[in-house]
Amino acid sequence: MIFNLGSINADHIYTLPHLPGPGETVASVSFSTGLGGKGANQSVAAALAGADVRHIGAVGPDGEGLIERMGAAGVDCTHIMRTEIPTAHAIVMVDGGGENQIVIHSGANMAQDANVITNALAAASPGDWLLLQNETSHQVEAATQARALGLNVAYSAAPFDMQAVEAILPYLSLLIVNRVEAGQMTEALNRPVLNIPVPNILVTKGAAGADWYDTRLLQTVSFPAFPVSPVDTTGAGDTFAGYAVAGLSQGLLPQTALRRAAAAAALAVQRPGTAEAIPALQEVLGFLDQLPKKGASAPQS
Ligand code: RIB
Repeated sequence: MIFNLGSINADHIYTLPHLPGPGETVASVSFSTGLGGKGANQSVAAALAGADVRHIGAVGPDGEGLIERMGAAGVDCTHIMRTEIPTAHAIVMVDGGGENQIVIHSGANMAQDANVITNALAAASPGDWLLLQNETSHQVEAATQARALGLNVAYSAAPFDMQAVEAILPYLSLLIVNRVEAGQMTEALNRPVLNIPVPNILVTKGAAGADWYDTRLLQTVSFPAFPVSPVDTTGAGDTFAGYAVAGLSQGLLPQTALRRAAAAAALAVQRPGTAEAIPALQEVLGFLDQLPKKGASAPQS
């Protein structure tokens, strides 16, 4: 089972001819709203990957529609609390090449309640997973409780903040960062990725694939991405993270879990939207079935 203490955002998505520079006003080509938030996206991805997912989060009086969408994707929403603080939202700008810029307003995401987390984790068993991102309050409290209960703790370090990473590092089984964040982290900690004290580190590299670091075996395995033409890359990292943790929680080997994650992200970027763009497992497996059979590259120490 996966417990995910995660953000729930209303995404306001604007497609633009190009992303604005400083001081520039750009007229949008289209506008839509949808379910987003790195937490909600990852819960939806993990649930669509077939995992049993319980989301822990908070919304305001305007958040019921978002909860319904999460529930429709198969996420257990019992532990999403209602607050008087408005639901978080994000301004998502997407250009013609699928690249994006995002502004978030945290709202209810920063008003989590320690008791709600404790009550949710009361149903956990050793070996279950706690998934976290950096868009909510109470990350370290949740990680502490989860470790005491024998859970694996995965942290998707986005939006990246080195202080937040350092605070949670001692509790982690799996750290997920992108290539830029990995660079910032190794510089700040003054050590290479394989010397960071977390058993597994997943570095996502967009179109260049992903690297899986096993710091106990001092091994790195690289996985290619599937070449596609993106229309919207928003939420691709969340799709990858949700599918990866789902696979690991289901006992899949990392190479199988990450291959599915890469396929899910490749499908998601070919559609507009965030949570709505995440494919279900059947589609992911169908996509993989059509490919020539290829494995990961050989381990490098
Ligand atoms: O990773 C994409 C997400 O980042 C969007 O859904 C937005 O809400 C922000 O949290």
